[in-house]
Amino acid sequence: MNDNFQMIKVNDLTKEFHLTNGKISYLFRVIQNNGQLEHLYFGKSMRHRDHFDYLTEREVRPSNNQFEGDHTSSMEHIKQEYPTFGATDFRHPAQQIRYPKGDRITDFRYEQHKSYHGKPALTGLPATYVEDSTEAETLEIILQDTYSELKLHLFYTVFADYSAIARSAKYVNHGAETFSLEAAMSASIDFPDKNFELVHLNGAWARENQMERTPIITGTQSVSSARGASSHVHNPFMALVRPDTTEHHGEVYGFSLIYSGNFLAQVEIDTYQVTRAMIGINPFEFSWQLKPQEVFQTPEAVMVYAEHGLNDMSQTFHNLYRKRLARGEWRDKERPILVNNWEATYFDFNEEKILDIAKTGAELGMELFVLDDGWFGERHDDTSSLGDWFENRDKLPDGIKGLSTKVKQLNIKFGLWFEPEMICKDTKLFQEHPDWIMQVPGKSVSHGRNQFVLDFSRQEVVDHIFEQMDAILVDGNVDYIKWDMNRYISEAYSLALPAEQQGEVYHRYILGVYRLYERLIEKYPHILFESCAGGGARFDPGMLYYAPQAWASDDTDAVERLKIQYGTSLVYPLSSMGSHVSAVPNHQVGRMTSLEMRTNVAYFGTFGYELDITLLSDEEKEQVKRDIVFFKKHRKLFQQGQFIRLSSPFTSNETAWMVVSEDQSEAIVGYYEVLAKPNRPYERLVLKGLAEDKLYRINDSDVSRFGDDLMQIGLLFGENFIGKASEYWAKEKIKDFNSKLFHLKAITE
Ligand code: DGJ
Repeated sequence: MNDNFQMIKVNDLTKEFHLTNGKISYLFRVIQNNGQLEHLYFGKSMRHRDHFDYLTEREVRPSNNQFEGDHTSSMEHIKQEYPTFGATDFRHPAQQIRYPKGDRITDFRYEQHKSYHGKPALTGLPATYVEDSTEAETLEIILQDTYSELKLHLFYTVFADYSAIARSAKYVNHGAETFSLEAAMSASIDFPDKNFELVHLNGAWARENQMERTPIITGTQSVSSARGASSHVHNPFMALVRPDTTEHHGEVYGFSLIYSGNFLAQVEIDTYQVTRAMIGINPFEFSWQLKPQEVFQTPEAVMVYAEHGLNDMSQTFHNLYRKRLARGEWRDKERPILVNNWEATYFDFNEEKILDIAKTGAELGMELFVLDDGWFGERHDDTSSLGDWFENRDKLPDGIKGLSTKVKQLNIKFGLWFEPEMICKDTKLFQEHPDWIMQVPGKSVSHGRNQFVLDFSRQEVVDHIFEQMDAILVDGNVDYIKWDMNRYISEAYSLALPAEQQGEVYHRYILGVYRLYERLIEKYPHILFESCAGGGARFDPGMLYYAPQAWASDDTDAVERLKIQYGTSLVYPLSSMGSHVSAVPNHQVGRMTSLEMRTNVAYFGTFGYELDITLLSDEEKEQVKRDIVFFKKHRKLFQQGQFIRLSSPFTSNETAWMVVSEDQSEAIVGYYEVLAKPNRPYERLVLKGLAEDKLYRINDSDVSRFGDDLMQIGLLFGENFIGKASEYWAKEKIKDFNSKLFHLKAITE
């Protein structure tokens, strides 16, 4: 059986399923006496055996048991794959279904399994994919509820090249009654011990993705969102790490949800030290009426096992998400160096000013001009006009078409900002469709940044916004769209849904967002999308499927960005990370940093500028030109190389990271010192990811070092570090917010 499959191994007799690609193993079985699924192992790859009976642990413990006379049939003490509540397991379940009678006791038993070469798509949802059926194998386990005609399909994909398992669940109602889904997680797993710490990313507007690591207590801990977006506050990600795990050493289990709405990532340690980890749509504020013959598909969860620390986990996420989650024409292309007018002008611009910026950008070597907020309706500040997507002719007399033509004559591409999901009350759109706002009838509706949320759960709303955007795009010559979303959803309620379906609103909303993206991409495949939500409030894997890059934060200060970009890199590749050089004093924190520092931080991302470049001095312009030449020369390395974190801004005054080319012939190291130090001690920076026996020339100097030497001893930051005392950078400029790049080029093979 299953001979055809290299990575899915099935022991038919014992009903054991072993997914392994030589790097990782994922093992579970069907429990003989109740047909439910028991988790056996997830971690470093194990050799296959014709049975794994020895991994089944049963104890007689004080508890409730499923079968009379049997004292080991408590589901509370069995490690599970997709647990249910109430039939002897008292922990948080992966699924809850309310039956027409009002109870929630399910009993899903193994019915059959199917194996596929490749990976089936998830209808209406973003997901990882393969381009060739040899890249992955997928196992589908079909379970039948003994109390109803509900079926549960659990999908497991193992990839040939990635240490990751992708999971999702699908509920199918083959019966004649409606069931209420109240929890439908994407993945759940029970680990046999509690020897973990929790790593997650939290934040707020302008300080996204702050990395936090905490011990886990016996009990339940979680990160989540109930804001209608994955949010600034928590990212849909968590990692369980061993206490001795570091960036480069130790075991890590990473969980990431490919979804942009409300999520829950939860860890529960029980009294027998079993750790249950689960991730999926947040059950809080969720329910779904599963009507006869209907299907509910959960989003996809990606579980990564890494043997060698957090960097190891990140590299799996980076590679998988860059190559097999992001899609389209732009996926593998080097991204254009853009100049965005937001921090240059805010709402105060006219065509002349815009053309001035675009012209200067083109002269300096920039490749894309992006017109941000304020070009439509009567949008002169943030109180007005969202939803009226037609040009303001006072600002742009020839409209978007006229402007983009003029911009392109300057030899620079043209990009445009939209905030499609929002509406202001002074608009034509609101006059015509006041019922399109999310609102509870007869109750007050809260604004966020003076705007209201369009009910994207309704197809006619999505269609109407598509038509408005299409009218601009159809002959607007637009190369890039920045899709923004600047508030959370409160009073979530759709006037188009009956009372019992209001629990579906958040999920239906995000499905509507995905549908609009899909339609635009289909019609305009050449457009590069950048997602944005007041900075990084939707920097999530769901968005990356549609928009291969995302604006990481409205905080453009170089020092703040060290933390934001370091944290974001836990899951997301540099090719997805919007990072710009902005003006000083910085608009968010007032800090003065050098152009060099700002540039050296922004290089590690998609790279661009967001300041009034027409105001730069001649000297600064020359510097910017040189920086752009440098970036273009190394752009592939920055955006497609392997990114390695070396020193954390969350624990140190010095941040360091590097990118290494796939063939290890080239690397660039970024080193940043926040506060200057007097009378410095000896300092070294140990590098990673180089080829041990390659000799690397450093910064085009006559100093060269072998890879093993650089990974053992490290770069020496002393006087002679590049051979000439006069080039000792720390002595040249001892000051705060200092930075230095090191370019390493292999001389001999
Ligand atoms: C929030 C975004 O993050 C900014 O970059 C900018 O586009 C503003 N919105 C415009 O309103």
